[in-house]
Amino acid sequence: MIIQPASHLKGTLSIPGDKSISHRSIMFGSIAKGTTKIHNFLMGDDCLSTIECFRKLGIDIEMHNNHILVHGKGLHGLKPASEILDCGNSGTTTRLISGILAGQPFTSTLTGDASIQKRPMKRIIEPLRQMHAAIEGKDDNFCPLTISPSTLEGICYTSPVASAQVKSCVLLAGLYANTPTTVCEPALSRDHTERMLSAFGAIIERKDKCVTIYPNPELEAMEVIVPGDISSAAFFMVAGLIVPNSKLILQNVGINPTRRGILDALLAMGGHITCFNERELCGEPVCDMIIESSDLHGITIEGDIIPTMIDEIPAFAVAALFAHGTTIIKDAKELRVKESNRIDTMCHELGKMGAVIRPLEDGMIIEGNATLHGAILESYDDHRIAMSLAVAALKATTPSQILNSECIRISYPHFFEHLKAVSTKA
Ligand code: S3P
Repeated sequence: MIIQPASHLKGTLSIPGDKSISHRSIMFGSIAKGTTKIHNFLMGDDCLSTIECFRKLGIDIEMHNNHILVHGKGLHGLKPASEILDCGNSGTTTRLISGILAGQPFTSTLTGDASIQKRPMKRIIEPLRQMHAAIEGKDDNFCPLTISPSTLEGICYTSPVASAQVKSCVLLAGLYANTPTTVCEPALSRDHTERMLSAFGAIIERKDKCVTIYPNPELEAMEVIVPGDISSAAFFMVAGLIVPNSKLILQNVGINPTRRGILDALLAMGGHITCFNERELCGEPVCDMIIESSDLHGITIEGDIIPTMIDEIPAFAVAALFAHGTTIIKDAKELRVKESNRIDTMCHELGKMGAVIRPLEDGMIIEGNATLHGAILESYDDHRIAMSLAVAALKATTPSQILNSECIRISYPHFFEHLKAVSTKA
């Protein structure tokens, strides 16, 4: 993909469905009784992997033009798959489905692509084993994972990482345990599981950074309207702020407090972002946003805000390049175990364009007021790296090429069309 420098961005975009919420709607719909109807489902490759896994587990899932029907069979209605479950590139599929599979009376094996096979699974293997799950992984840490039947015990688990995937995995296994299960985390991670599972009928209690789930609920099918994904909106939020003379309207952006860190961080940098038409969609806060070119200044981000913007840090780093002064990102070591090592990949690729950006063990130091030139850039098959680099390329003095950019299909299949629709070549 060739990205031309842009003179300005103008227009209105309807932001595609949230990836995390789309996954959960299929999973929870599958283990609820009755037909769940899902609107604005994200047809990205990751969410399609979740659909394929549940089809293999015996769930009938119908894809229509503007909705999906999941014919759920209840908590105990899944059937053994006749082949290995392929989670593709999706950490959410792998880790959440493992929690569900731990409670089944049959054995399952799951794996995914080259990136998934490198991602740490000990973080779910350990708590699941504490629940007496029978789970084996390569070197006790990697896919393929094999999960065999066992009788699960509820636990109180203090997670060393603020990870919604770990939390959700343990809570989902907790549905099948014989006593309640509690998960506590060091900082609050995204809470879509808690919100949506409660709406399906699970009994869930939150106390500060701990969540308790009670086993064996009657989950009932429901209608889900998936809000737009702030992680996808983030690329256009940053692009609209850094490209001069720009004005973008982003419609239908989810602003759940556990996801809105990027909005708060960009506002703190002096970004002109106005949220209007605030409303609630299926228990999730949503708004429309106006983004206008802004004079940004560098900030430090660290601590509890990090989990609320973890997927947006590559895009945030691009905003920081065009701010006055230095931006420091700390407490973000988790970036090293995402689809790629996002600290190293961003520093390396932006460095090729002339950025002054230094990796830290748990973040980056980014010098602002950058002048970038075009370059041949590598996505490392990481969708968010590809899109972040595309945004940086809008501000370069010459065109850039992004290699292996097809991976954007994972979370934002129409990204380049949307970019083309709003940008004018410099
Ligand atoms: C997700 C949780 C986050 C996030 C990922 C989606 C989810 O991962 O990075 O893109 O849907 O629960 P971690 O739980 O590893 O932080």
